[in-house]
Amino acid sequence: MEQLIQQIEGYRHEIEQLQVQDPKALEDYRIRFLGSKGIVKNLFGELKNVPNDQKKNFGQVLNEFRQFAESKYEEWKEVTNHQPQTTDSIDLSLPGDPLPIGSRHPVNLMKNRIISIFERLGFSVAEGPEIEDDWHNFTALNILEDHPARDMQDTFYIQQNPDWVLRTHTSNSQIREMEKGKLPLRIICPGRVYRNETVSARSHCFFHQVEGLYIDENVSFADLKQTLYFFVQEMYGNDVKVRFRPSYFPFTEPSAEMDISCQLCGGKGCAVCKKTGWLEILGCGMVHPKVLENCKIDPNKYTGFAFGMGIERPALLKYGINDIRLFSENDIRFLKQFTASI
Ligand code: PHE
Repeated sequence: MEQLIQQIEGYRHEIEQLQVQDPKALEDYRIRFLGSKGIVKNLFGELKNVPNDQKKNFGQVLNEFRQFAESKYEEWKEVTNHQPQTTDSIDLSLPGDPLPIGSRHPVNLMKNRIISIFERLGFSVAEGPEIEDDWHNFTALNILEDHPARDMQDTFYIQQNPDWVLRTHTSNSQIREMEKGKLPLRIICPGRVYRNETVSARSHCFFHQVEGLYIDENVSFADLKQTLYFFVQEMYGNDVKVRFRPSYFPFTEPSAEMDISCQLCGGKGCAVCKKTGWLEILGCGMVHPKVLENCKIDPNKYTGFAFGMGIERPALLKYGINDIRLFSENDIRFLKQFTASI
């Protein structure tokens, strides 16, 4: 009995010295002292060998020891539970917390569709700055300072420097690419543009464009027509009809507007096509020799065509949206509707 009491004192001393800080050490402790074959259980097993008159006393010592061993276990459990998990204890196979997945913006969906069609024809994407100098936005494009053609695009000028404007079209990227002097050139230029327009359901002071440019030897108006015809067939289907109307842009000669048969009424005439059966979708033409000269390209050797279209209008049509302002209001109820769109 004396011997047993001493043994218990020894264990108590051992426990007092212990420093249990991680789940593994805690589990080792539990098995050694409190497990079904552990020390506490064994000591209780000794009770039957203790003489009857000492049983009560021994039982008391034993119970106290068990309570001490258990309270230490609880104490350490608290500590180890609140420690950061080690990588060993993280189950990497558990499914993660679901993240709300956004959706592509309808303007980007339409932009990507347009780009992918032209990429298949060998065009590559070129981008330029949204704050541009007068040369790249106007003068190099043959839109001279006092020419009335400047009025075609109501412009935001930057107060700090009157030579800077918010670009009114992505043609500035085309000038910048031509200036690099690498020919032939086959590029499309997507991006945001700005015009001082009154904001309404049909127009906005900023919108998006994709413009295209092809410069090589012997590029003709027939190449322009065929390229754009391929584009609208890919975009709107094989039944689409096109027509070219003569137009004017300072940077192209000859110039044209291209219309497609109205996709809503099939050409019969409706409110969207204003009963004409046609929808205007882009401006185009052969690059003006003066523009080539401005970019140090020899107009006697090289010719080229260019075109430019807005992205918002075709997106309104495709997705049946009735107000252009919805595109920039960031209303999540609107944007969510395009999760499954391509
Ligand atoms: N830059 C013209 C615009 O923004 C579009 C265009 C580009 C027209 C190329 C003809 C050729 O209105």
